[in-house]
Amino acid sequence: MRSHYCGDINKSHVGQEITLVGWVNRSRDLGGVVFLDLRDREGVIQVVYDPDLKDVFDVASTLRSEFCVQVTGIVRARPDSQVNGQMKTGEIEVLGKGLTIINTSAPLPLSMDNHQNNSEEQRLKYRYLDLRRPEMAQRLIFRAKVTSYVRNFLDSNGFLDIETPILTKATPEGARDYLVPSRTYKGQFFALPQSPQLFKQLLMMSGFDRYYQIVKCFRDEDLRADRQPEFTQIDIETSFMTSEQVMAKTEAMVRGLFNDLLNVDLGEFPRMTFEEAMRRFGSDKPDLRNPLELVDIADLVKEVEFAVFKGPANDAEGRVTALRIPTGASLSRKQIDEYTKYVGIYGAKGLAWMKVNDLDAGMEGIQSPVLKFLNEDIVKQILARTEAQTGDIILFGADKANVVAEAMGALRLKAGEDFELLEGEWRPLWVVDFPMFEKADGRLHAVHHPFTAPRGVSPEQLKADPANTVSDAYDMVLNGCELGGGSVRIHNAEMQSAVFDLLGIEPQEAQEKFGFLLEALRYGTPPHAGLAFGLDRIIMLMTGANSIRDVMAFPKTTTAACPLTNAPGFANPQQLVELGVQVIEKKNADAE
Ligand code: AMO
Ligand code: AMP
Repeated sequence: MRSHYCGDINKSHVGQEITLVGWVNRSRDLGGVVFLDLRDREGVIQVVYDPDLKDVFDVASTLRSEFCVQVTGIVRARPDSQVNGQMKTGEIEVLGKGLTIINTSAPLPLSMDNHQNNSEEQRLKYRYLDLRRPEMAQRLIFRAKVTSYVRNFLDSNGFLDIETPILTKATPEGARDYLVPSRTYKGQFFALPQSPQLFKQLLMMSGFDRYYQIVKCFRDEDLRADRQPEFTQIDIETSFMTSEQVMAKTEAMVRGLFNDLLNVDLGEFPRMTFEEAMRRFGSDKPDLRNPLELVDIADLVKEVEFAVFKGPANDAEGRVTALRIPTGASLSRKQIDEYTKYVGIYGAKGLAWMKVNDLDAGMEGIQSPVLKFLNEDIVKQILARTEAQTGDIILFGADKANVVAEAMGALRLKAGEDFELLEGEWRPLWVVDFPMFEKADGRLHAVHHPFTAPRGVSPEQLKADPANTVSDAYDMVLNGCELGGGSVRIHNAEMQSAVFDLLGIEPQEAQEKFGFLLEALRYGTPPHAGLAFGLDRIIMLMTGANSIRDVMAFPKTTTAACPLTNAPGFANPQQLVELGVQVIEKKNADAE
């Protein structure tokens, strides 16, 4: 039905007769001439209908927004005065010769011009219309280019695309599972995969040695701008490769991707240990565009009369840290109160501060509600260590180390934005040397996942000092976003059992949940390592979108629902009987 896409027409087509199909972006009757902006997925083009072709002109006069039409016409150059530099096709227009209305459109429930006025709920309910907007269409087109690049890269590097099951058993990646009841085994459930982790390891045991899959993963977790209940991973696994080799290969892929699609050279990615990232940035995914850094001062305040500082300074699990914001002395009390509230979200109980009004005036030049607790020598050392200048503010966090890292890490990001401090466009890095475990609720949890290998220890050594064992895991971080993460895997049943044991998984439970893995580990398992990228996050960053929802065709709301299809929905009672499932009524369920 078409000879070209609207957005592909340019000066080289002048004089040609073309046929286009698409939607009426806008049509205006300007003094007897109808201007039609016709849109398809590749762009918008202007079509002009003169009254001398009366029949066609009469049809053109009846056009309304979003009618689906077919247009024939001759491409002509626009006069210089009418060239539109904002439009890809702004140098030309089409002199309309024919027009067929393929389908009319009811008035739209969404505004196409002022989409800011559309609520997220409306946009998702009418997603097929929202996706007509060029901005959204461009993102999905871009997404297809990314997956195409990734497939080409991995295919040409010897990786095999192999599918793994969706109806499966739980894969622990730290979220809740989505469960699917089994009809044939009443009372039993499949879990949707949180990732293909165990299957890709089994494929290594089968000898496929380089695997990839662009694959949906399902996680029932608290949603944010960069999290969805179903999302896509670029999932990779290799045998006989070290963590260095996996990092080099996947870094080359991401560098190539940015080069090819954005003409951006990311350069070689620096490495940072987890310990350094937490110490300097309070985060294991530091945004290196932000120059602000945390500076620890616990050693300076061990003896002060201020319990807020003294307590954590003398607690092995405590931390006292300072964040200097250049020019921050301009902050008003109200703004400081707002920052205090902000760190409160992350569990901080307060935010002590120190304004450096005049660095050369000694204690006179310092303004702070906690000054009375600090002697001149301590203040001097704090100023020196934070490299404070006149006009700066220093903000303090004191608490358990994890609270301080979260609160002050978040404050660092907020202040970086508020003070417009971000430098450079793209700042990738690898974060390495993660601990194997973190402690919460009095027990150990895997920092990556329970299949991650410790670095350089035997099962006995691991058991002797789990808290201080480093894992062979790595995360790729870009501009403060975790793009992907992976690790070298345990390829020995004894080590795997030791890790389950440390995680408090009893041998019987380990057998029930992961018996197949433990058994497979007995049959000549090769050393293997891999990584998975969040495809949606990569595309969000590359397109400058604010949320991964904006780079997915049909995402869910932040409460994990789909307003378009009204999913999830109630099952009919007959279906439930077949499945052997009994539903607890909502009011009872809420009471539980
Ligand atoms: P991990 O859990 O770190 O590792 O996930 C890998 C990457 O997937 C993305 N991601 C998400 N994206 C959108 N919404 C979500 N809810 C979501 N959760 C994760 C992130 C993350 O870096 N099996 C391991 C990988 C491995 O060890 O090979 C795994 O899944 O970008
Ligand atoms: P207070 O003694 O509670 O009045 O607190 C004195 C100052 O210390 C105030 O500026 C508080 O915001 C700040 N403060 C209180 N708790 C903490 C904390 N855990 N970390 C940093 N500053 C705090």
